[in-house]
Amino acid sequence: MQELKKKLWAVGGGKGGVGKSVVTLMLGASLARQGRKVILVDADLGGSNLHTLAGIKYPRHTLEDFLNRDRENIEDIILDTPVDNLRLICGADDILGLANPKYSQKMRLFNHLKRLDADYMLLDLGAGISYTTMDFFLYAPNKIVVLTPQATSIQNAYGFIKASLYRGLSRIFSKNARGLDLIKRASSYKEDDRIESVEMLIEAFKMLGEEEKSMLTDFLENLNIHLIVNMVRGKKEEEIGNIVSTVAENYLSLTLEHLGIVKHDDVLATSINSMGRFLEEKRSSRAVTCMDSIARSLMKINSQFESNLSAPSTPEAPVPNEDSKTLFSAIMTHRQHG
Ligand SMILES: Nc1ncnc2c1ncn2[C@@H]1O[C@H](COP(=O)(O)OP(=O)(O)OP(=O)(O)O)[C@@H](O)[C@H]1O
Ligand SMILES: [Mg+2]
Repeated sequence: MQELKKKLWAVGGGKGGVGKSVVTLMLGASLARQGRKVILVDADLGGSNLHTLAGIKYPRHTLEDFLNRDRENIEDIILDTPVDNLRLICGADDILGLANPKYSQKMRLFNHLKRLDADYMLLDLGAGISYTTMDFFLYAPNKIVVLTPQATSIQNAYGFIKASLYRGLSRIFSKNARGLDLIKRASSYKEDDRIESVEMLIEAFKMLGEEEKSMLTDFLENLNIHLIVNMVRGKKEEEIGNIVSTVAENYLSLTLEHLGIVKHDDVLATSINSMGRFLEEKRSSRAVTCMDSIARSLMKINSQFESNLSAPSTPEAPVPNEDSKTLFSAIMTHRQHG
């Protein structure tokens, strides 16, 4: 797991079209340009399109070949991209039901990914909170949630984070009926008997025992979720990440690290059908500048990890303010179950 901690990052977020795939590709390209060996994995099984974005029309191999065991070794399905140091594992189509691989197939995939020679592996996840998406997200030691300043995207991102938290906890306590009951009361929106926040859940867990409480708090500490706010159009929108962090800190007892923003970029938007060329020609644009800065943050997190400062430095707890209260009520009125 130590090895994976250094290199595996999942890129998710509840909503479609917020830029998960674009961010995965551009972040990978920025890291590759700065000399890192990067492998992108299109884990949006059933809706895979990362290869198209990367300028590959007809992938020679896809995850389908690996999951079906047409190819035994994952190395055999990695494709080059137009960018040096940047390689790609293409997603599978849904025709054979591969959008929901079996547990054994996922485990085989994870075991092979672990052994790959790369400095960074970025998993591009699909929209929504399906089991497969959550499995990939929870498996990756480092997680990124992409959102845009749109209210619906903020709600979905928060719902996605919340769902991953409770999905992970339900799994850890799957054999503990009393623990599961408490988790259910915290994740449900039903008024009676509800546990209002993760802080209160921790309190309730103390009753179960010190070990159970530690398992819960360890899980929260190791969830490692980072935020990227994409398509930002003005100063005010740059604050969205901090506001979401504040709400998560207060209600989910999670410290989210804000990795940075990506500005809305017309040059990028008009190049979207020829991203391969766009990246190959190392064209500069507002979004590329933002991505380079986010890539540097990732490398800093890695070097901190390597120099055994353990986890990345945790930002100071954000102070709740009026904006976060307004946002919170917006989030809570959106009844996305966790
Ligand atoms: N920073 C940006 N500036 C301008 N346009 C952007 C930016 N980021 C993304 N886009 C636009 O948003 C579109 C959707 O992006 P993308 O396909 O990455 O979303 P997604 O979250 O992966 O969606 P899905 O969940 O459907 O896979 C892109 O085709 C592009 O036109
Ligand atoms: Mg996508």
